[in-house]
Amino acid sequence: MRTFQITVKKDGGPRVIYANEGDNLLKVMIKEGIYVQTPCGGKGICGKCKVIFHKGAKEPANTDIKHLSEDEISRGMRLACGVIVDEPMDIEVPTVASAINVLTTGSEDMDIQVSPFVIKKYLNLTPPSIHDQRSDIRRIQDGLGITSLSARSKLMREMHDVLIKSDYKVTVSVYKGELLNIEAGDASDKSYGIAVDIGTTTVASYLIDLTSGKVIDVESGVNAQRPYGADVISRINYTIQQKDGLTTLRDAIVNQLGGMLIKLCERNNMETKHVYNVTVVGNTTMTHLFLGVPCESIAVSPYIPVVTDLVEVPGREMNMPIDGYVSVLPGVASYVGSDITAGILACGMHKSEKYSLLLDLGTNGEMAVGNKDGIVSCATAAGPAFEGATIKWGIGGVKGAVSKIDLSQDKIYSTIGDAKPIGICGSGVLDAVSEFVKYEIINKTGRMYKPEELDLPDSLKNRITTTDSGKQFTIEGDVVFTQKDVREVQLAKAAVSAGMKILVKEAGIEFKDVETIYVAGGFGNFMNIESALNIGLLPKELAGKVKSIGNSAGTGSKMCLLSESAIGELEKISNSTKYVELSGRPDFEGLFVDSMVF
Ligand code: FES
Repeated sequence: MRTFQITVKKDGGPRVIYANEGDNLLKVMIKEGIYVQTPCGGKGICGKCKVIFHKGAKEPANTDIKHLSEDEISRGMRLACGVIVDEPMDIEVPTVASAINVLTTGSEDMDIQVSPFVIKKYLNLTPPSIHDQRSDIRRIQDGLGITSLSARSKLMREMHDVLIKSDYKVTVSVYKGELLNIEAGDASDKSYGIAVDIGTTTVASYLIDLTSGKVIDVESGVNAQRPYGADVISRINYTIQQKDGLTTLRDAIVNQLGGMLIKLCERNNMETKHVYNVTVVGNTTMTHLFLGVPCESIAVSPYIPVVTDLVEVPGREMNMPIDGYVSVLPGVASYVGSDITAGILACGMHKSEKYSLLLDLGTNGEMAVGNKDGIVSCATAAGPAFEGATIKWGIGGVKGAVSKIDLSQDKIYSTIGDAKPIGICGSGVLDAVSEFVKYEIINKTGRMYKPEELDLPDSLKNRITTTDSGKQFTIEGDVVFTQKDVREVQLAKAAVSAGMKILVKEAGIEFKDVETIYVAGGFGNFMNIESALNIGLLPKELAGKVKSIGNSAGTGSKMCLLSESAIGELEKISNSTKYVELSGRPDFEGLFVDSMVF
């Protein structure tokens, strides 16, 4: 079998990889960890896995002709999932195919007292004598003033030496009664933890000083499992359909988190041995995949997860390079995970007299409504429309993304960084549909009018054209918003809106009783609230009550890392939050259909 060299240019520097004759180019890129958007998982449906050939371009396939413009094809652009390697190639991954931004900011003023599970203490112990024959462990236990202490055998083999050499002046680290390590001298100021938020699309790791509670550094990136599927269902399917699929996905995220941890420590001149605890939040599928636990049952009725409780595993057992523990925080059900319980903890709605609504719009759409007397939650199949994955020209919030649309202006759009438009990010997607509603470019059912049916200036009418795949509205150049895109937004907003109506009903209240709506996630941070209200994504009664809280899942993860009582609170939230399965609700379909209307 022949092997060919493929030079890949991405994010500046070129990289050389190799593939066997007959390999699928997208699969090779995935294997090599070269990120490109793949919402359809390589089926040639989404048109997102664009690469530009500088050498070795094939004749355009039908899928290329369907998804790419003539100009793109003439520039050598092809869809990687349709390319079979049969010669050396030079390719480039354009920004539009790999652009995803990661939100790492949340609430900086966390309402907690720093008191983590990890105790790190300097002890000046009395050396043993013929009159004091306590064991080493008992001596440390007494020095700590606690009633029991255990240690792994590896540590027991080393500890006596450390005590002797340091003249019994040592620093010990203890996690829930287990001695994690022992160091000579005073190293009590070196105590760190990592709070992790595993999103379906992105991952964020925060390095935190467990003594001061300060966030020292953040490392983030696209979830390494992303090439195996854009949403939780396609990831679960991957574990079912592919031999060793679960191991592949587990290794991808574990290695990614391990790599982030090492990078954070190196960048801050710290040793990984001083990281004692990693708290992990994520939706239930993400936490199952991280633990390597089968998740098929999440995808089929009656949707039963293996675990939603707090899981604590020694770091080494998880292949994480630490002596401490990994704590996977508790969630509620198959589709309301610890990212939502952490969000509830972060916004404090579980402690308030007044009613609040938490909405996390990411790759999935999850929400919760309630107050100190109880919370109800649900998840909607909102789809990743607002992250741009199912939108023809959708991209993350990067330079060149159309982020605002205003049809009253001569220049109807603005882009991030004021750059040439390369796609449309979530806030632009929302604005586009809102402006179409406002200018009646679409009717109440979402159908885009023909130009001749519209009473609008030619400058707007002329932007509407009809192609083989239907009507579309040109924003600039090739960047268009299609009828199908309108439908994607319509489905997503109807699912979210119907979910909210059911939750409010379940809570026995009305929208007017909701005091605050917390919008979590990257999209919430940047969306135009007016547009969200205008298309019915948010109920009109909540105008003026919207508060964006950024990555609240990450904030909740940080709180649990820093505070024993925060974990206790989170466990209470997890146990007391009621989950409403929308597919089992007879009223869902009617509300969904009603909510389709603009
Ligand atoms: Fe290639 Fe969707 S078209 S991954």
